[in-house]
Amino acid sequence: MSVAAAVQDDDLLPELRALLAGERDPVANAANTAALIFTRLPRLNWAGFYFLQGDTLVLGPFQGQPACTRIRLGQGVCGTAALRNETIIVPDVHEFPGHIVCDSASLSEIVVPLSIAGKLSGVLDIDSPALDRFGPAERALIEAVAALYVEACE
Ligand code: SME
Repeated sequence: MSVAAAVQDDDLLPELRALLAGERDPVANAANTAALIFTRLPRLNWAGFYFLQGDTLVLGPFQGQPACTRIRLGQGVCGTAALRNETIIVPDVHEFPGHIVCDSASLSEIVVPLSIAGKLSGVLDIDSPALDRFGPAERALIEAVAALYVEACE
């Protein structure tokens, strides 16, 4: 079942829009966005943010197991997505050279870069304990979530 089907009629996006309305603080909005994703989408074990500081992604608000706090640009899935400034979907993390293990339960992952006011500000990272959890429908949904988050913070 796709994420879009699982949340029924894409009601996640209107719910997120309402949740972020009137608040611009990037940390507060990241906390609520991570919580909404994690509690509403099935088969996830981690959902959260890393924010760019210099050449390093630093852990931000998240839901799931404790995670590594710093990832250099170009390292792991998060650092690679940030460096390329493009979404990366990893169907099987064991097949991604340099994947950083934070929770050994994670089997697939999607990382979406975030740009606020045209400048790369971090990434939204979502992990699943299922292989191949993220396809085109999930990519569209998570990229829309990231766009709503960025728009709210601008
Ligand atoms: N797996 C990520 C590290 C972050 S955790 O999954 C929360 C990576 O390879 O960048």
